[in-house]
This record gives sequence, C-alpha cells and structure tokens, in this order.
Amino acid sequence: MRMRKKPHGIERLNALSDLLYPFEEIKPENITEKPVVKLPDPSSVFTDDLPLILEVGCGKGDFICAISERDPQCNYIALEKVPDVAVTAVEKYASRRGLGRMGCNGGWIADDGTLYPLGEKCPVAPEKRGNVRFAVIEASEFLSGMADSSLAGIIANFSDPWTRKSSYSKRRLTSPDFIQDYRRVLKEGASFQFKTDDEKLFDYTLESLEANGFTVGYCTRDLHSEEDTGNNIITEYERNFMNKGMTIKKLVAYPKK
Ligand SMILES: C[S@@+](CC[C@H](N)C(=O)[O-])C[C@H]1O[C@@H](n2cnc3c(N)ncnc32)[C@H](O)[C@@H]1O
Repeated sequence: MRMRKKPHGIERLNALSDLLYPFEEIKPENITEKPVVKLPDPSSVFTDDLPLILEVGCGKGDFICAISERDPQCNYIALEKVPDVAVTAVEKYASRRGLGRMGCNGGWIADDGTLYPLGEKCPVAPEKRGNVRFAVIEASEFLSGMADSSLAGIIANFSDPWTRKSSYSKRRLTSPDFIQDYRRVLKEGASFQFKTDDEKLFDYTLESLEANGFTVGYCTRDLHSEEDTGNNIITEYERNFMNKGMTIKKLVAYPKK
C-alpha cells in the first residue's frame, strides 16, 4: 500500500497504545535469526472471553472497524506491519468508538474534551477499549508467538501478490510457511477467509492451502455476482478494484485436523 508519510505516525500510535495488543520482542544475539515474540494470553487483554479472530494486513482499518461492530460476539486482533498505515486504522477505530478525535499538531482530543498533545498517552479505560486490538508487526513474527489452536478464524483481504520476482513468493501471506502457521494456530472447525482481485494469487492460494492441510469449503471467482453478498464487508482495496471493474475472488478454507 503506497501512501504519503503520516506526520508523527509512531507518536500518534503511542497516544492510543491502550488499543494495541501488547507484545515483547526479544532480539536474538545472532542477527540472522528472527526475533522471539512473547504475547500475553488474550484473556488478559480483552474484557470478555470471546472467540478470537485475526486479520493479517488490515491496512487503513475499514474492514476491522465494520466487522467488529457487526459481529461483537468475537474479539479481533488486526495486524499491520507499516506504522504509518496502522495509525489510520487505530485512529479510525478509536473515533468510531467515540473515544475522541485528532486534535491540532497531531495531538488527540479524548471523549471528555481533554487534549493530549503529541507524544502523550491518552488513557482508555478497559471497558471502553472494545473488541479490537491492533499490532504493528510483521505477521509471521506475531504468529510465531501465538499458542497452538488459539484462533477461531484468520482473515486476509487483498494481500500483496508479490508477483514481480519468483523469489518474492515467500512474502505472500498465503505462502506455504504462512499457511502452515495458520494451520497451527487455528482451532478445529475454524476458518481461513481470503479475498483478492488477483487471479494468479488466487490460484496460488488455492494450491498452497490444499497442499498444506486445508479443505476449501467456499470458492467464487466473482463474489459480487453471487446472490447473497449482503454479508460481505467491502474493504478499501476492494472498493478501488470494483470501481475499476475488476472481479473479486473469495475463498473460505478449513484446517484438516
Ligand atoms: C494491499 S493492502 C490491503 C489492505 C486491506 N486489507 C484492504 O483490503 O483494503 C495489504 C496490507 O497488508 C500489509 N501487509 C503486507 N504484508 C504484511 C505482513 N507480512 N505483516 C503485516 N502486514 C502486512 C501491508 O502493509 C498493507 O497495508
């Protein structure tokens, strides 16, 4: 996702850090090894003990805001690796929950009117934080810290196809390494949902899922021509592709346990 740099993205994220999923990243001494990520149990992060859904690559957050309002019987973690993108999602979620709005010079004006200048944290009471937490991190790192069979669902919408070089295929959010991680962290009966405009990425994802222990239960190459699309939540990228007349592909797959 290309976007202009957000002024003070990191400081603005810090202002709303109560809406971030806390994690500890331990950097190994050997720089070629990946950092170890330690995550607290979700029951210590969310107020209610509800099924947990993970969105990988949430972008500017339209989808996670809409689904968390529509399906409040779940908790959600939204992962986005680019801080300047994630800050838009977090601020959008906060303002939709009535937790305030951006003030002048990057400060945050809380729901009671208090202005928290840039760099200061705005405390959000646990009961006001709602059912979403955001994590600004590379998805594979976050997944490495997740317990086995801990998720009721994973959603990946319009992830980058990385088609320019074959060596880039490992970066796809549906590469075999990612699919194996998803299989490990999904509970029995849980689902993996995927939407894209990209035909090649869709074919690649179907193969990757079937080769790595998933059964595809639903599959369409033209989602918006289906009779019942009332349930579909349109993402930022989906809207752009639809406006360009492109068809949207969707699949829902289940791990074989
Ligand atoms: C093409 S955008 C789609 C955004 C949104 N899901 C939508 O449908 O409008 C993909 C987003 O995924 C993020 N992303 C890509 N790979 C990621 C990874 N490995 N970990 C976390 N976020 C990732 C990108 O930074 C980008 O914001």
